[in-house]
Amino acid sequence: KSDGDGQAPAPLQLTPQIKCLVFPRADTTRFKPARPDMFGLLGYYLMDAASLLPCLALDVREGHSVLDLCAAPGGKTLALLQAQSLGFLCINDSSVSRTLRMKKALHSYIPKMFLKDEKLRITSFDGTKWGEIERNTFNRVLVDVPCTTDRHSVMEDDNNIFRKDRTGERQRLPQLQLKLLLAGVQAACPGGEIIYATCSLSQNQNQNVVKEAICVAQENHGIILQVVDLNPLTHMFRKTFHFAPDLHIGVMVIPHLAANFGPIYICKLRRLA
Ligand SMILES: C[S@@+](CC[C@H](N)C(=O)[O-])C[C@H]1O[C@@H](n2cnc3c(N)ncnc32)[C@H](O)[C@@H]1O
Repeated sequence: KSDGDGQAPAPLQLTPQIKCLVFPRADTTRFKPARPDMFGLLGYYLMDAASLLPCLALDVREGHSVLDLCAAPGGKTLALLQAQSLGFLCINDSSVSRTLRMKKALHSYIPKMFLKDEKLRITSFDGTKWGEIERNTFNRVLVDVPCTTDRHSVMEDDNNIFRKDRTGERQRLPQLQLKLLLAGVQAACPGGEIIYATCSLSQNQNQNVVKEAICVAQENHGIILQVVDLNPLTHMFRKTFHFAPDLHIGVMVIPHLAANFGPIYICKLRRLA
């Protein structure tokens, strides 16, 4: 059973609408930020190319209702908006200031008429509570959780999560990630699919969170989850990204001198019931 319509899951299709340009292998030049065009809109968004993989793995189809649970600053949301004619997109982030910044960013890329659409909802709720608000609803849920942001943490001192005064917050991350993933699972409809993503290399924030979520979903909520094989996706992008070999659950892009993207961890789950 899949997609809430009783049909077998269709094979992964990649939307041709998303255009993503990357530097040739081993070229680590920086690209200049976009400038507004004659309509005041920006033509491209700079992001780690591996951040596109969770959006592609989400495999949104025409008419799908999609929840982006932790959406700010909005890079993946922009990709999702490009991808397909979505039925409905709910964009959420618990941080009010980050949600406001994301709204502004969306306005610099998307003409106003599309943002006023009733098919789009922008909220600022605590995502961990989503399962209490709106259950069994979405065909696709993206759970791109707060994490140790390993590339940022290595490169920048500003607001670094490995600072001593943020130790408690850092140690609580796996708990928060588990709650967010479980809320995303509950928000998905039976047959719906969920992508869990981090930009961390830590097994405690990646595979362990997913394993725990699968157990708790079944024991506490009677929800059966199946891990979806992402090998077709990694195979397709094997020349662009360096993937970690043989991960037990999910896939991971590891930064590499010749392919300087990631880290990004992704796991795809399907709700069977
Ligand atoms: C990794 S970032 C998301 C990046 C975003 N998806 C993108 O592609 O631009 C994680 C986000 O989770 C948000 N967040 C943290 N705790 C949350 C919660 N309890 N509910 C919802 N969002 C939360 C943070 O404010 C942060 O913006």
